[in-house]
Parts: sequence; structure tokens; C-alpha cells
Amino acid sequence: MNTLTAAQIKEAAAYIQSKTSIQPEIGLIMGSGLGVLGDYIEHPVVIPYHDIPHFPVSTVEGHAGELLIGTLSNRPVVLMRGRFHMYEGYGPELTAFPVRVMKAIGAAKLVVTNAAGGINTNFQAGDLMLISDQINLTGRNPLIGPNDNELGVRFPDMSEAYSGRLRALAREVAQQQGFDLQEGVYLSVLGPSYETPAEIRMMRTLGADAVGMSTVAEVIAARHAGLEVLGISCISNMASGILNQPLSHDEVMETTEAVKSRFLGLVQGVMPL
Ligand code: 6GU
Repeated sequence: MNTLTAAQIKEAAAYIQSKTSIQPEIGLIMGSGLGVLGDYIEHPVVIPYHDIPHFPVSTVEGHAGELLIGTLSNRPVVLMRGRFHMYEGYGPELTAFPVRVMKAIGAAKLVVTNAAGGINTNFQAGDLMLISDQINLTGRNPLIGPNDNELGVRFPDMSEAYSGRLRALAREVAQQQGFDLQEGVYLSVLGPSYETPAEIRMMRTLGADAVGMSTVAEVIAARHAGLEVLGISCISNMASGILNQPLSHDEVMETTEAVKSRFLGLVQGVMPL
């Protein structure tokens, strides 16, 4: 297995720190079509992933592949525009690597976002869902292998993976801004094929409200690293078998475009966390 070491995390962190004197307090990972938040970062230093030692390079359309460091609502932040998915062939430890690097350059909190399919039939495309908890159905875990105690404990607690404090804050902001915020459990699979209707029925029985192909490995690594996590899903489409129509990545991108202003308002509104 391709385990990344503390030394490699430090090398990536040192490279980033050589490009900026900003010490980010908050890390943000933007999902498919949601990288637009990066446009609102003031005076960003932009670092392409391929320049950062040991960083994987994202391959999916709609994912730019760069790190932005600057300020958002006057807070120092580091934002990932484009993330690494296990369906691209990366192991979970590579998917989680940027989270550890964010921690190494100073981040104490992490905002993760994604596009997800709605499983809860009360949802509709274009809804935003606060992630209350997650189900890891990828069969993978970024912490497999020897544990580096410098990074975190061997058996990290996951009983409050998504911070109750940050969820309360997000609810308050949505209410102030006057839009409905759904809340529910995000389930992740490996992908890249979308689910069958039978799989979606199974996931609903398991307690999932939305399904996607990202986030869980990053959040496991984040909790291992002691980061406080806020998660937001953009329900880009209903999952398979709910509406009488096939799913397409184009639809995912179109809906995220339509949700943009509420999404931006919410993330900027929760700052400084
Ligand atoms: Cl329906 N399934 C998965 N796995 N990922 C998604 C999705 C569905 N919609 C957006 N992303």
C-alpha cells in the first residue's frame, strides 16, 4: 500500500508555506461544480496541485486541481478546488493526504462539500443538505496501515464526525438567509457507476439520505487529525429509481450551477466558524 508518511506531509506543507505567509485556520474542500467559492477568496495565492510535492493530480471535468490560499470573510483559509476520488484510482490515503497537509499548515476546521444524489424522497434536486453523519460503504479507510501517533490515535472516535456546534451554526445562517436547509446522512460508495434502484432502496433502509462518491475518507482523516468538520451536500439530482429518468454528470453540473448563490451565502455566512 502506498502509505504517505509524516515526512511527505511536511514536504508538501513546506512547499505551500514557501509560497505564502498566510496561516490558514480553515480548510475548504469544494465538490463537483462548487469550486466557484474560490472566486470569492481575496488576494489568493494559487498553487496547482501538480506543483505540490506528493500531491495527486485530479482528473475529473469540473475539478480544476489547485489550492487557493487567501482570506474569506476576513479569515485565512485554504481551499481545494477539485478533490481526489477513489474512483480515479487513488487509494484512500491519497484522498486524505490534502486534509493532513491542511492541518500541517495550520487549519483546525474543515468544510467539506460535495454533489450528492438524493435518497430521501422529501428532497429535491437543488436542495442543500447539512451532513449530520456519514456511512462509509466504500470498503476503504485512509487509516489502514501503521498508525503515526504524531498524526492521530490508532482508533479515532467517530461519534461526532460532523460537529454539532457547526451544524447549529449552519442552520442559523440558513434561517437568517431565508432558505430551507435539509439535514441528513451522507453515504459514500466508490463509484464511478451510479447506483441501481435496488441499491438505492437498500441505502434508504440503511438510513442514508444522500449518496455520493467522496468525502468519507477525507472526514475520517480529518477526525483522526482532530479537525472540526462541517459538511454540506448539494443535492444535484435524485438518486436512481426515484424519478423516471436516467442520471448524468451533466445534470449534476447544471444543478450545482443553479444552487450556487445559496451555497455561497451559506459557506460565507458560517465564517468565521
Ligand atoms: Cl445518484 N450517486 C452517486 N454515487 N454519486 C452522486 C449521485 C448519485 N449524484 C451525484 N453524485
